[in-house]
Amino acid sequence: MKKGVYYYHDIQKEEVKIMKKLLVGVFSVMLVLAACGGGDDTDDNGDTGGTGEESGQEQENGDGGAEETAQAGEELYNTNCAQCHGADLTGGAGPSLENVGDEYSVDDIVDIIQNGKGQMPAQDHLSEEESQQIAEWLVNR
Ligand code: HEC
Repeated sequence: MKKGVYYYHDIQKEEVKIMKKLLVGVFSVMLVLAACGGGDDTDDNGDTGGTGEESGQEQENGDGGAEETAQAGEELYNTNCAQCHGADLTGGAGPSLENVGDEYSVDDIVDIIQNGKGQMPAQDHLSEEESQQIAEWLVNR
């Protein structure tokens, strides 16, 4: 009987040990999960914040961005084209671009910017995107 009790106690101890191990195990898992979850959250937040801002900008460039593109286009025009075509587009060394949208599509103008035309040197230091912005601004102005 005594032995039995002792044995029983032993089992209880074992059980407690196992329980503790389990608890520690569960705790560790929870900690890891929490850590990962936290990490993920932070990442997500970071990413979402970043992407949010970025996609916000992209969206602005994309659709609502008519304004931003236009502004960029105008600035790019002023620094790259105005010296020949005039700050007010009325021309100078180059022809007036006031009504260039009637004659050329955005694509045509991008092509002219990238490859030049007649007396106009190629403005190939401008990226396709920048050329696009200028062309869109010129046509939609
Ligand atoms: C070095 C002076 C110079 C610069 C800089 C310049 N152009 Fe020109 N551009 C010309 C000349 C000259 C022509 C006329 C070419 C021809 O038909 O012989 C011309 C023609 C054009 C035409 C065709 C106009 C037409 O009616 O045929 C477009 C469009 C144009 N330029 C856009 C631009 C844009 C946009 C920029 C800035 C990215 C730019 N140009 C920068 C000199 C320049």
